Amino acid sequence: MSIQAVVFDAYGTLYDTQSVAAITEDTFPGYGDLITQVWRLKQLEYSWLRSLMGRYESFSSLTRDSLAYTLRVLGLKDDGEAFERIIEKYLHLDLYPDAMAALTAMKDRKLAILSNGSPDMLNALVHNTGLDRVLAATISVDVNKVFKPSPDAYRLIETTLSVPPASVLFVSSNPWDACGAKAFGLNVAWIERVTPEAMALACVESETIAPLTMFKALRSQMDELGFAPDHRIHSLSELPGIAASA
Ligand code: LAC
Repeated sequence: MSIQAVVFDAYGTLYDTQSVAAITEDTFPGYGDLITQVWRLKQLEYSWLRSLMGRYESFSSLTRDSLAYTLRVLGLKDDGEAFERIIEKYLHLDLYPDAMAALTAMKDRKLAILSNGSPDMLNALVHNTGLDRVLAATISVDVNKVFKPSPDAYRLIETTLSVPPASVLFVSSNPWDACGAKAFGLNVAWIERVTPEAMALACVESETIAPLTMFKALRSQMDELGFAPDHRIHSLSELPGIAASA
C-alpha cells in the first residue's frame, strides 16, 4: 500500500531537545549539560510512570515537574524567574536544520505531528518555528490522555487523518517510540542520529563520561524490545525518497 501520510514525533525528531543546553548553562553555569540530560530523562520517565499509574497529567505539567525535580536534586536554587526562562525555551526549540526542506519536499502527502506534547506547547512551538505552514495536523496524545508508546496514542493518527496504519510512515528518532509505533502496526522510519560507532567512540574518548554521552547511551540507540524499524536513516533529508518508494 502506498504512503499517504507521513507523521512525525516532535521532540528529538523535528525539534532538537538538546537546544535547551545553552539556556540551562547560561542560567546555571557549569550545570547546563547535567540539567539538560536529567530533565529530558525524567520528563519521559514521568510520562510512562503516570500512564502506568493511571494518573495522566499534561506533558507541559510533566515538563515543569521534571525540571523542578532536576534543579532540586542538583541542589540549585531558582528564583522562579530562572525556572520560567528555561521552560520558555520549550516553546522555541530549534528545528533540526534538515526539517523544513524535508517536509516541503513531501508536501504532496498528508504531513502531521503525533506527539506526547500537550496542545498548548505543541501549537506554540509549531507556530513559532513556521511548521504550521506545512503541517496538515498537529496531533497531541492529550485527546486520549495516554502517552506514547501506548497503542491508544498511535490510534489517533487514523482517527484524525482518516489514513489506515498501513498507509502511514511514522518517523521518530526516539528508539522507544519507533518500537511502539512498529508494535502498533505503522511503517516506521527511525532516525539513527548517533551511529553505534560514534557511540562506542564517545565512551572511550575520555575518562569521565559526559552527561550527554550517558543520555545518548540510554536514548539514542535501538532498544531491545523485539521490534525493528522498517527504515533506518541518518537524517530527515532521506525521507522523501523513502516515502516515494514505500
Ligand atoms: C514526543 C516526544 C516524547 O512525543 O518525543 O514528541
